[in-house]
Parts: sequence; C-alpha cells; structure tokens
Amino acid sequence: MKIFNPNVSPKQQPNHESNREVTENCQWQSPLQPTQTFCLINQKGGVGKSSSCFHLAGAYAELGHRVLIIDVDPQGSISQGFFGSSAVEELTTSNSVSALFDESWQFSDWGSLIHKTRFDRIHICPANQTLAQYNSPTPEDAGMLQYALREFIEEQVDYDIVLIDCPPNLYRCTWTAMIAADWVIIPVTPEDFGTQGLRAVHQAIENARVLNPALRRLGHLVTRSDGRLLVHKLYERRLRMLYGEYVLQNLMPELSAFKVAVANRKPVQYHEPKCRAARLTRNLCREILDRTDVKTQRRRVA
Ligand SMILES: Nc1ncnc2c1ncn2[C@@H]1O[C@H](COP(=O)(O)OP(=O)(O)OP(=O)(O)O)[C@@H](O)[C@H]1O
Ligand SMILES: [Mg+2]
Repeated sequence: MKIFNPNVSPKQQPNHESNREVTENCQWQSPLQPTQTFCLINQKGGVGKSSSCFHLAGAYAELGHRVLIIDVDPQGSISQGFFGSSAVEELTTSNSVSALFDESWQFSDWGSLIHKTRFDRIHICPANQTLAQYNSPTPEDAGMLQYALREFIEEQVDYDIVLIDCPPNLYRCTWTAMIAADWVIIPVTPEDFGTQGLRAVHQAIENARVLNPALRRLGHLVTRSDGRLLVHKLYERRLRMLYGEYVLQNLMPELSAFKVAVANRKPVQYHEPKCRAARLTRNLCREILDRTDVKTQRRRVA
C-alpha cells in the first residue's frame, strides 16, 4: 500500500484541512531506515500510555515522519481518540488488529487492517472489544501466532515510526507487542513505583527477549507530573536514581491541553501547535529518536 511519496516535499502531499497549518510549519525529515517500532507498556492503568502514544504520533507526523499506530488494547482508547467510540465499536475482526490474533484469519489482505486518519501521515490499525477474547495470560499458548504482529509490521515498509499502544496488563496483547517491537517505552506516573509493578514489567521485557533478542528498553517516560508538587519531584528523583539513563529527560506533564486535544480528536500538535504541551511533545519525540541509533544507521545508508 503506497500512502506517501518520500520524494515529494510535505507541502506537495495531499494537504488535509485539519493539518494544513502544521504541515506548512513542519521540518521535513528524510525517511528513517529501517522503520523503528516502539511499544508503550505498563501494567498499571491510567498512566498515560494511550495519551502519550496519540500525541507522539502527532509530533512525529508533524516532523514529516510517516506513522503507523497499532492499538493492541481491547479498550480501543487510542482508536477512539481518532474515530470516536461508535465507529470503533462497529469494527470487526477482519478490519481491526484482532485479525492478527485470530488463527482462522487468512493473511491475504493486510491493507484492510490499516485505516487512514484525518492526518496525512498517521495511519492506524485499530482495536476494540473483539480483541479481549485473545488477551490470554498465557501468551506462549498462541504458538506461531505470537509472531503475527511482527510479520505484519515487517510488511509495512511505507512507515518510519510504528507506535504500539498496549493494555494495562502483561498478557498476550502486550507480549505480542514486545515480540514485534525494537524498543520499549515505559510510561510511569510519579507515584509509588511499587503499585505500578515495574519489577514485573522489567521481568516481562526480559522474558520477551527470549523470542525477540533485539528488544531494547528505551526508557521510562514520566507522565502526568505536576511540577508544583514536591511529592512528584521526589518520585521523579527516585526514579532517576533507580534507573539512571533509562529515564527520559523530557516528560509528559499533566496539562489540560493534552486532554482538550484528545477531546477534539486531534494530537496536540494539530490542535494547538504553539502551546507548551505541543512543544514538550516535540522535544520528547526528538529525544526518543536521539536515543535510538537511527542517526548512525541513516549515515550508514547515506
Ligand atoms: N500528560 C497528561 N496530561 C493530562 N492528562 C493526561 C495526560 N496523560 C494522560 N492523561 C489523561 O489521563 C487519563 C488516562 O490516560 P490514558 O488513557 O492515556 O492512560 P493509559 O495508561 O493508556 O490507560 P489504560 O491503562 O487504561 O490504557 C485520560 O483521561 C488522559 O486524557
Ligand atoms: Mg490506554
């Protein structure tokens, strides 16, 4: 499926009403080689996995990268962020990510699983409740299907960045994401890390490395922090003591602009490109790419 011509500048791409301003302001980046796949995991709910994924997708698209989001959460939060709840409820196994978890599905038409969004460079493989039946706590029972998402992503050569949004548990959906990804990002709120089960998250990453030795921890992403709260500062400091360089310098603080943008079904870069939340997300997406060895690989390609 050809969705974007890398030889043509962003201004010459089909220019959708909703992202015209951002597209005209964006800095054009050459395509990344190879595609970088990130999964956002944490077994604790409400830490900002989906929200971060949604806004990062907008920031990468604004920078000129072609983004594929894969929703492997049966809650379908990020899918609803783009399309609203009614449209997402109507999805079936054959036009959602569920197909990649269903052994009876024939791998003939990858294209039916990928949906365009309102934003030129953002596509999504969405999820809804039909995925819940496959999210078993014993993923190894899935046999070769553990690799289906990985194979699917390997076929998607037209994207620079793949972002996988995971559910708040470490069952089959998250496991499959880790088998498919290059990098793990762990969103954490600056609260009691014990209650976020971080040890179990790290153990799950180690276990996934048996099947995907290339999987690397990119780092913990501090989310929903309030710089005015001493307790948040202390927890952030503690996280940095515990995990050192495996904590991203840039944060996704608690800002209403993130929520308002989601309510308007737009990543913050498209909703309010000049606000603080948009600027912070842009910085974060640059740091994430800096932390990968993409630049080195690009130089080698060139
Ligand atoms: N940085 C932020 N600033 C303000 N609100 C945020 C931020 N991050 C997340 N939220 C809000 O917090 C709530 C939970 O966020 P989100 O759904 O992204 O968490 P999650 O980790 O994906 O949850 P789940 O584990 O249920 O999938 C949402 O209402 C979201 O809008
Ligand atoms: Mg979520």
